[in-house]
Amino acid sequence: MEIKRADRVASLPPYPFAELARLKQQALADGVHLLDFGIGDPDQPTPAPIIDALCAAARDPETHRYDESTYGPPEFLSAVASWFQSRFGVRLDTDGQIKLTIGAKEALAHLVWAYVDPGDLVLVPDPRYAVYSVSTKFAGGSIYEMPLLESNGFLVDYDAIPGDVADRAKMLFINYPHNPTGACADLAFFRRTIEFAKEHSVIVCHDAAYSEVYFEGRKAPSILQVDGAMDCAIEIHSLSKTYNMTGWRLGFAVGCSELVGGLTKLKSNVDSNAFPAVARAGAAALSGPQDSVDRMRALIQQRRDWLVDGLRSLGWPVRKPDGTFYIWAPVARGYTSADFAALLLRDAGMLVTPGSAYGSHGEGYIRLSLTIQADDVQRYIAEAVERVGRLGLRWD
Ligand SMILES: Cc1ncc(COP(=O)(O)O)c(C=O)c1O
Repeated sequence: MEIKRADRVASLPPYPFAELARLKQQALADGVHLLDFGIGDPDQPTPAPIIDALCAAARDPETHRYDESTYGPPEFLSAVASWFQSRFGVRLDTDGQIKLTIGAKEALAHLVWAYVDPGDLVLVPDPRYAVYSVSTKFAGGSIYEMPLLESNGFLVDYDAIPGDVADRAKMLFINYPHNPTGACADLAFFRRTIEFAKEHSVIVCHDAAYSEVYFEGRKAPSILQVDGAMDCAIEIHSLSKTYNMTGWRLGFAVGCSELVGGLTKLKSNVDSNAFPAVARAGAAALSGPQDSVDRMRALIQQRRDWLVDGLRSLGWPVRKPDGTFYIWAPVARGYTSADFAALLLRDAGMLVTPGSAYGSHGEGYIRLSLTIQADDVQRYIAEAVERVGRLGLRWD
């Protein structure tokens, strides 16, 4: 029997990280001593108090059953509300402005299904995390790519969006701290975003998965701090990066009650909330001491400084990112992103992601992730810098 996949799946390009995983396996099989700067998955374990909370919760048979709440267990919603109030000074109603999600990725994908009809237009950043555009395509919508230029601090330039495009758009995605460029936005940018959204009746989704990965104490703001944001914006948060919990699959969506409600209605038809014990552990993470988050930031900032300072010492003009786990570095003269990533793999045994995997404006860059798994990370980074140095590349 011939089994045919739906067009929406058959026409998908390979998931960029699946290709990266394949290249990594091949290099390892070839005996290469690989330095892996590929995927952004925290190398540190989840803090012990969160694991303890999970173990205790898993022993309670109450957590073995379906969570039949609409928005998520009350304990989790209260923990989110308190955390949000103390972190951003924004008060959220636990009855309609917060929804537990199974990570940020799931929330982003399902939000599109809740609001995008065939033919609708969605504004997405370029470069970007792929889910915004792939899920738009699944829903039958089309995308308009908003270039994020280094000359504009990788912020969206709303004045550059043609008026008819802005008027046609149904939804807008932004993401700061930004994967892959590491750029952060300030409140003035979020104010401009809400102004643009209201002027053109566009729903705003801010992907804040990296909200806690900022450096030098410059806290990343929430778009919900802006007056009027609660009328048109939803913000997606994740426990993945904040507490080294990528495998646990836990996040939350907050903001405009209509948008939280639409997402909730869609989700009630496709999943049954997270494992309640994971939700309880998540509540413990958000309401417990946050010193592990300070340690995570210090660790990543130190690695950022080692790598950027090292690469700059070779003449490579690499920007220090303000947040996230990523270094967004320009490729050497004469290379495309893919060629340069292939060169680093072949001649330096370094795995990086080509910027073009994030959209056409990612061309000309590669992304290096700082989530490095090694006993001696400083030595690992020094080795990478040495290997690049031996290539004798030029960036001018
Ligand atoms: C920008 C961005 N948003 C969302 C996610 C997904 O996070 P989660 O693990 O909560 O699904 C990622 C993961 O890498 C990401 O880079």
